[in-house]
Amino acid sequence: MRTSGPWRRAAAGAMLLGTDGAPVPTIFAEMSARAAATGSVNLGQGFPDEDGPAEVLDAARRAIADGVNQYPPGRGTADLREAIAEHQARFYDLHLDPEREVLVTAGATEALAAALLAFVEPGDQVVTFEPFYDAYGALIALAGGEHVTVPLRSPGFLPDLDELTSAITDRTRVILVNSPHNPTGRVFPQDVLQRIVELAEEHDALILTDEVYEHLSFGAPHVPVASLPGAAHRTLTISSGGKTFSTTGWKIGWITGPSELIEGVLAVKQFLTYVNGAPFQPAIATGLRLPDAVFGGIASALAAKHAVLADGIRGAGFDVFTPDAGYFVIADAGPLGFPDAREFCRLLPERVGVVAIPVTAFVRPDHADDFTSLVRFAFCKRERVLHEAVERLGRLAA
Ligand SMILES: Cc1ncc(COP(=O)(O)O)c(C=O)c1O
Repeated sequence: MRTSGPWRRAAAGAMLLGTDGAPVPTIFAEMSARAAATGSVNLGQGFPDEDGPAEVLDAARRAIADGVNQYPPGRGTADLREAIAEHQARFYDLHLDPEREVLVTAGATEALAAALLAFVEPGDQVVTFEPFYDAYGALIALAGGEHVTVPLRSPGFLPDLDELTSAITDRTRVILVNSPHNPTGRVFPQDVLQRIVELAEEHDALILTDEVYEHLSFGAPHVPVASLPGAAHRTLTISSGGKTFSTTGWKIGWITGPSELIEGVLAVKQFLTYVNGAPFQPAIATGLRLPDAVFGGIASALAAKHAVLADGIRGAGFDVFTPDAGYFVIADAGPLGFPDAREFCRLLPERVGVVAIPVTAFVRPDHADDFTSLVRFAFCKRERVLHEAVERLGRLAA
């Protein structure tokens, strides 16, 4: 039985093929298994351990009770598309036609997949920043694209503008931006985003921007790429309700942009999932219409969690890089005598009962040198869980 196929490219793109060519489990799967086996505090995967706003949860329950349980329309329910358009206008002064410029997807991940499969021809280059969310490498590879990266090195985790300029050429089909960024938590400043727009214009590239952490900024304010001068006509913006409303399991995402680009994404998306999450669509629409204060509260609750973990791990002897946003903080295990974060993360569950992820999991093996001793900790957990993790990590130096 022949088992080869494009899945190999996807696995290789996500850095999940072993040296013998066989697939290896993701570091997340490996670490979650270790967490379960050792009773560790799991600060590996980025999902909250508390429910989001009650209004959002109640709306989903109501929708199920009211019989909203069959296929929704292919582009998403009209009400959710309107809520997404209202949200973009309210927060960013971006004005969209909900009929033609908004498409609901199965999480941000499906939007990314459909957009890359829609617009990347074999051999086209796709530029991302590195470290990168692992799905990017897999999806670019599935689309047959060539993945070109621009490093975000510590301590600032911002791109060097000369490196950025030389990475983008006439072979670049898509520049994939992720701000606020996973795993570094960096919000790209406006001059970096504006340079991306200029380079896209110069080389006629599309901008695909993944803004799933848009409301989780407790440092610099988030600026959508599409709101910058000269960007809107070549930018597809992706977000999702999972991070903002602590509903990562619902997988309600969306993509917005010029109608002719959305048509291309829809052409692929309709044969990936067709539609998803009927009763969750009205619930996310409810969330998007919540008052500004709720969004502010979500970010400040996260800032408080960040403070608990960051102060604690700094006290435990790590060098800590303060994020602007998101669920994660990056720390350097070098000062504790662990120059190799992958090894460190493998011994951490047995040694002190905590799980974390090495940043090299988000970096191609041949680019790992700049990131070897860096560890990603998730802080989207209850404060007592974070205190427990800090207390355990404090035993490292003992
Ligand atoms: C940068 C980034 N994009 C996309 C996703 C996935 O979003 P969704 O669950 O809506 O597919 C994640 C989840 O961790 C992420 O970190």
